[in-house]
Formats: sequence, structure tokens, C-alpha cells
Amino acid sequence: MKATMIATLSAVLLAFAATGAGAAEKNLADRHVAAGMKCESCHGPGKKIETPEKEQCAASHDPVKLAEKTKGVKPANPHDSPHYHTGLECTLCHVAHDKPENYCNQCHKFDFKVK
Ligand code: HEC
Ligand code: HEC
Ligand code: HEC
Repeated sequence: MKATMIATLSAVLLAFAATGAGAAEKNLADRHVAAGMKCESCHGPGKKIETPEKEQCAASHDPVKLAEKTKGVKPANPHDSPHYHTGLECTLCHVAHDKPENYCNQCHKFDFKVK
């Protein structure tokens, strides 16, 4: 009886662990691919992987409109700051294949959430 209970409990725990991992948020590149983009849309058609630059992101997400959209984000607008205006490389925060970064927090303590 006891052994069965332990077996059942471990099975439940394992199931939890599995769903936990499965439910982990997709990174930015995965989300773009899920939305129908190809790897080449960011990396170029060649064999060599080119790291996409701000201009490429800006073709789909206009930085000025973006700054306007997030101007209400507290405690500071991530897309428009006195030092960088709208000029920061997007991937300093929106890391594509890994966890996002809060670039401003090298110096500030801004608790905005980068996805
Ligand atoms: C939305 C744009 C985007 C898409 C889509 C995307 N990538 Fe990336 N990729 C990047 C950026 C930006 C970097 C630079 C490192 C980072 O931000 O993670 C990168 C880096 C890489 C690297 C260099 C290794 C590294 O992690 O530094 C490889 C390899 C790569 N991507 C492969 C792929 C493949 C394969 C796909 C398609 C399944 C893909 N990427 C889709 C933006 C993208
Ligand atoms: C300093 C970090 C940082 C940089 C650099 C940055 N972002 Fe963001 N971005 C954020 C944060 C934080 C949010 C979430 C804002 C919120 O809470 O609504 C965000 C949200 C977004 C959104 C979703 C906006 C919406 O509400 O629909 C897009 C799209 C986006 N960023 C694109 C970009 C692009 C393109 C660039 C480069 C031109 C860029 N970001 C540069 C931090 C950054
Ligand atoms: C290398 C350090 C550094 C980084 C990175 C940095 N800042 Fe700052 N920031 C400062 C300093 C220093 C000041 C001026 C000191 C002050 O006024 O408190 C300042 C001032 C500001 C101010 C005006 C002060 C205020 O509170 O009104 C804003 C807004 C601001 N930063 C936003 C940002 C945003 C948004 C980012 C990320 C995109 C960022 N900063 C990244 C160092 C930095």
C-alpha cells in the first residue's frame, strides 16, 4: 500500500515537472517563428548566421511609434530615454534565443518586464 502511494506520488511529481518545463515561456526567436517567420528573415539567406541589427527590427517595429506606445511604462520608457533616445540596439534587452535582459538596470533599478 505504502509503496503504491509513493509510486503514485512520484508519478504526479514527475507530471508536474514535465508540465512546468513545457509551460516555460518561449524565447523571442521561437515566438517569431511560431508567428510564421523563418530563421532567414532575421539571419539572412546565406549560410553564415548574420546577427540582425536594429534597422531590421525597425522595419517591422518602428522605434518612434514603439516609444510612443510605451511612453506610459513606469518608472521609465524603455524605448526612449534621455541618454539613448530611441537609438538602443533592440537585442540588448530583447535577447532572441535566451532570457531577456534589462539593460537599464546596469545603472538604474527599473522593474519593467522585457519579453
Ligand atoms: C526574431 C529574429 C530571429 C529569429 C526568427 C531567429 N533568430 Fe537566431 N538570432 C537572433 C538574434 C538577435 C541573435 C543574436 C543572439 C541573441 O539575441 O540570442 C541570434 C543568434 C543566433 C545564432 C548564433 C548563436 C547564438 O546564440 O549566439 C544562431 C545559430 C541562430 N540565431 C539560429 C537561428 C535559427 C536556426 C533560427 C530559426 C529556427 C533563428 N535563429 C531564428 C534573432 C533571430
Ligand atoms: C531597455 C530595454 C529595451 C530595449 C533596448 C528595447 N525594448 Fe522593446 N520592450 C522593452 C520592455 C520593458 C517592453 C515591455 C513594455 C511594457 O511593459 O509594455 C518592451 C516591449 C516591446 C514590444 C511590445 C510593445 C507592445 O506593447 O506592443 C515590442 C514590439 C518591442 N519592445 C520592440 C522593440 C524593438 C524593435 C526595439 C529596438 C528598436 C526594442 N524593443 C528595444 C524593453 C526594451
Ligand atoms: C551606464 C549607466 C546608465 C544606463 C545603462 C542607463 N542610465 Fe539612465 N541615467 C544614468 C545616470 C548617471 C543618470 C543621471 C542621474 C540621475 O539623474 O539620476 C540617468 C538618468 C536617467 C533618466 C532621467 C532621470 C530621472 O529619473 O528623471 C531617465 C529617465 C533614465 N536615465 C532612463 C534610462 C533608461 C530607460 C535606460 C535604459 C534604456 C537607462 N536610463 C540606462 C545612467 C544610466
